Amino acid sequence: MTQGIFITLEGPDGAGKTTVLQELVPRLEALGKQVITTREPGGVAIAEEIRSVILNPQNTAMDDKTELLLYIAARRQHLKERIIPALEDGALLLVDRFIDSSVAYQGFGRGLDIEAIDWLNQYATDGRKPDLTLYFDIDVEEGLARIARNKHRDVDRLDMETLDLHERVRKGYLTIVDKEAERVVKIDASENVEKVVEAAYTAIYDRLFR
Ligand code: TYD
Repeated sequence: MTQGIFITLEGPDGAGKTTVLQELVPRLEALGKQVITTREPGGVAIAEEIRSVILNPQNTAMDDKTELLLYIAARRQHLKERIIPALEDGALLLVDRFIDSSVAYQGFGRGLDIEAIDWLNQYATDGRKPDLTLYFDIDVEEGLARIARNKHRDVDRLDMETLDLHERVRKGYLTIVDKEAERVVKIDASENVEKVVEAAYTAIYDRLFR
């Protein structure tokens, strides 16, 4: 049995979830929790190697199914090496992207079979789902404009995709929110950082600590 709390953060590119994640750490620590942050794809050495293959802008020949399977492989390794041990230690885990990214990007975005993705996610995670998922919702053009303004972040292979793909990704996330309302909470990410952090913290507190 795992004792920890497993929270994932999801959203289209540029929603600001990585910034929010960092801001949440001290606030959650103040609740007396050991907070661990990590990200997908990556988080452990093998998965970071897979990440660099997936996101390398030169890998234009990458097939959509290859891309999906690499994300799934990275997920499996990260779960085994990082997520499960941290949960067994009783930590509160904040994970930047998880199963829903595959459904939104490779399923709705690339058009791969959603049932197959659900099965692969289930297989790779042994059915382990987050206790709570925060979905940061932002208008696609606003999200991409934020990335363009953020000089500290390199443009990766996924950022170079068409606006159309990003629109489908957002629609995918909104479908997941509707379908899994007991697990996934939608946060309006168009507000300033303080407000978005506050909304995220409130969602975590209400769902898991009240
Ligand atoms: P990341 O570096 O976390 O980007 P961001 O800062 O925008 O969250 O993720 C890199 C890209 O990988 C991002 O565009 C989303 C994509 N992705 C998928 O397409 N499928 C997946 O399963 C995961 C985990 C990420």
